[in-house]
Amino acid sequence: MTAKQRRILVTNALPYANGPIHIGHMLGYIQADIWVRFQRLRGNECHFVCADDAHGTPIMLKAQQLGITPEAMIDEMNSEHQRDFADFSVSFDNYHSTHSPENKELATLIYTRLRDKGYIHTRVIEQLYDPERDMFLPDRFVKGDCPSCGALDQYGDNCDVCGATYSPTELKNPRSAVSGATPELRESEHYFFDLPAFGDMLKAWTRSGSLQPEMANKLNEWFEQGLQQWDISRDKPYFGFEIPDAPGKYFYVWLDAPIGYMSSFKNYCERRSDLVFEDFWKTDSDAEVYHFIGKDIIYFHSLFWPAMLKGADFRQPTNVWAHGFITVNGTKMSKSKGTFIMARTYLDHLDPEYLRYYFAAKLTSRIDDLDLNLTDFAQRVNADLVGKVVNIASRCAGFISKKFHGKLSEHIAEPAMLKEFQQAADSLAEAYEQREFSRAMRDIMKLADRANEYIAVKEPWQLAKDENKAQEVHDVCSMGIHLFRLIMIYLTPVVPHLAASAQAFLNDEFRWDSAQSTLTGHAINKFKPLMQRVPTEKIDAMLDASKTNTPAPDAAANSPEPSANSPEPSANSPEPSANSPEPSVNSPEPQAEYEPLAAEITFDDFAKVDLRVAKIVNAEAVEGADKLLKLTLDIGTETRQVFAGIKSAYSPEQLIGQLTVMVANLQPRKMRFGLSEGMVLAAGPGGKDIYILNPHDGAQPGQRVM
Ligand code: MSP
Ligand code: ZN
Repeated sequence: MTAKQRRILVTNALPYANGPIHIGHMLGYIQADIWVRFQRLRGNECHFVCADDAHGTPIMLKAQQLGITPEAMIDEMNSEHQRDFADFSVSFDNYHSTHSPENKELATLIYTRLRDKGYIHTRVIEQLYDPERDMFLPDRFVKGDCPSCGALDQYGDNCDVCGATYSPTELKNPRSAVSGATPELRESEHYFFDLPAFGDMLKAWTRSGSLQPEMANKLNEWFEQGLQQWDISRDKPYFGFEIPDAPGKYFYVWLDAPIGYMSSFKNYCERRSDLVFEDFWKTDSDAEVYHFIGKDIIYFHSLFWPAMLKGADFRQPTNVWAHGFITVNGTKMSKSKGTFIMARTYLDHLDPEYLRYYFAAKLTSRIDDLDLNLTDFAQRVNADLVGKVVNIASRCAGFISKKFHGKLSEHIAEPAMLKEFQQAADSLAEAYEQREFSRAMRDIMKLADRANEYIAVKEPWQLAKDENKAQEVHDVCSMGIHLFRLIMIYLTPVVPHLAASAQAFLNDEFRWDSAQSTLTGHAINKFKPLMQRVPTEKIDAMLDASKTNTPAPDAAANSPEPSANSPEPSANSPEPSANSPEPSVNSPEPQAEYEPLAAEITFDDFAKVDLRVAKIVNAEAVEGADKLLKLTLDIGTETRQVFAGIKSAYSPEQLIGQLTVMVANLQPRKMRFGLSEGMVLAAGPGGKDIYILNPHDGAQPGQRVM
C-alpha cells in the first residue's frame, strides 16, 4: 500500500518559561512524539515544532525576584527545557520562543488584520491596582480572606478551602501578592477580540464530527453560555509585545502564545530551503496541522485560536487533540508525597523509555486522566518490555551467533505465523493513527506472547543437545528473531532507543513497511542486553529526591493569570460552595477516620443487593446543585440516571467512558433535579477525597457483581 505522502505539521502546547518541565507535562509531549514518529516511520512528511511560552506577568515577576532580566531567565529556561525534551527522545524539528522576532512579526500581522476587519474593540474596565508597585494585578496576584467561608490567605479567583469562586474585588482584607499593599480599583482601557463574530464558523467546526466527542460537548456548553468578547490587552509593566497602535498596552500572553506555533515553524523554514511557510498556513493549504494540548487549555485552542486564524486569513488547524491530566499513585502530584516529579529528577533515576512505554500502554484518543501508579509502572514495563519483548531475542540470539556464525536461516520455519504477524501491521497502523496507543500496545504484546509460546514449545535449548537437530535449532531461533524484529518495528514510535539498539543488533533499518519483508539468510550482530528491569529502589530514590529537589509549585508563579477574562474552566475546578442544600449521596460522616463495621448479615441479605458493572456514558454538572453530578449509566439492558455527590472530586470528563459499579435495585429517589435511579459505589471521606469503584479491564456493562 503506497498511499500519497502526507504533509503534516504537529505541535504540542508550549510550556511556560518560568518553571521546569515535570512528569505531568511529559504526557502530552510523549503522546505527540509517538504520533509524529509513527508518521515519519510510515514515510510521511511530518514536522514537529514547539517553543517556550515566554510572556506574561508571572514571568516578569519571577525574573524580578531572581534579580535578572526576563530575557536572561527565559534563555536559561529554554536550554533547560530543550535538554529535558531531548533526553526523553522528544523529536522536535525546532524549538523556539514566543519572545522572538518571528513571533513579534506574526502577532503584529494577525492583530493588524483583525483590527482592520473590525474585530478589535476597546472598552474601559475596572481592575485591582497595586499602588506600591504601580501595576494592575491579575486575579491570582490578589490574596485575601474568602468571602464565603472566611478562610485566610486565598487567591483572588477561588477558595482552596471551600471551593467558592468569586472575583478578586469580593475578597475580604485584600492585598497584593506582589507587594502586600492594599489594592485599589482603577479604570483602564482594554482591547477586546470579537469572538462572538466567529460563532457560526466555530459551531460548524464543532458539528463537523472530526472533534473528540468530549471536546465537542465542551464547546456546545460554551456556545450555550454564550461566547464573550476576549480581553487581549494588558497594561504596562508587562513582559510581552507592545500593541502597535497602543503605547503602554501589551498583547495578553495568550494572544501571542499560539502564534508561537507558527513562528517556530517559520523560524524552522528559514533554515530549511525546501520548506515554504505559506504552504502550510495559507487558507487553501493541503497540509495537515494538528495541535496536541492538555484539557485545561481547550478554550484557547478550540475557540480563540481558530477564530483568530480565520479572522486573519490563515488556515485553521485540521484538528486539536486534548489529553487528560496525570495523577501519580492515584492523587494529584504532591510535593510532600514526592510525587511532584520533575522531568530531570526522573531522568536522574530511570530510563525514559520506561515512561514512554507506560504512557503509551495507557493512552487512548479520549480526554481521560491517566494515573502513573508506580507499582503498576514497574510491573508493566518489566512484564511487557523486558519479560516479553526483549526476552524473545535473548532466548534465540545466542544460538545464532555461537552455532550459525551470526547468520539467520535461509528457511522460514512457520510461514503462516509470520504472515499473521505481518498482517497485524494494518490494524496497528490504524490504532497509532487514531491515537489509540493502548490498543496498539495490547495487540503488540499479544504478538509477543505468541512468539514466546512458540519458543517455549519448540525448546531450542533442548533441541541443541541433539547434534542431528542443528537445522531445526537454526530455523526455530531464526523464526524467533524474525518475530522479534516485527514486534520491534511496531514498537519503534514508542521506544526509539530500544528500537535503535534492535536495529544495530539486527543490522537493519526500520521503516513501517520493513515488516513486510523478511531477513532470511541475513547476518546479524552479537546480542547485547537491550533493556534492564526497572530497578525499584530507583523509584524510591526518585520519590525521595522529589521531596527535596523540586521548587514548590506555586500556582501564582506557574500559571498565567486565569483572570475574569479567560473563561476557560480550570482543570481541577473545585466545587462551588460548602453550604449547599443538596444531600450528598455518597459521603459518610467525616468525623471518624473509619466507621465501625456494620452488623453481620447472611449471604441472602447480601444477595438482595443487585450490584452491576455500569459504564458512565455521560456525566454533567447539575444546575443549582453544587455537589452533584448527573450520571448516565449503561447497565447492558438499560440506561439509568443517577445523581451522585462526587462533583468535588471528579470533573465530568474524568468519568465519561469509565466503568464503575452501581446498586441497580435501589428504590428510585425523587430529587429536586429529577429521579435518581440507583447509586454508584464510592469510598472516602468526601471533598476531594472521594473514590469511585472501578472494575478491572474486561468487565462488561450489565455484569452482576457478586
Ligand atoms: N503555556 C501554556 C500553553 C500555551 S500553548 C499556545 C501552558 N503551559 S503549561 O506549562 O502550563 O503546560 C504545558 C502543557 O502541559 C499543556 O498542554 C498542559 O495541559 C500540560 N500539562 C501541565 N500539567 C499537566 C499534568 N499534570 N498532566 C498532563 N498534562 C499537563 O499551558
Ligand atoms: Zn472559602
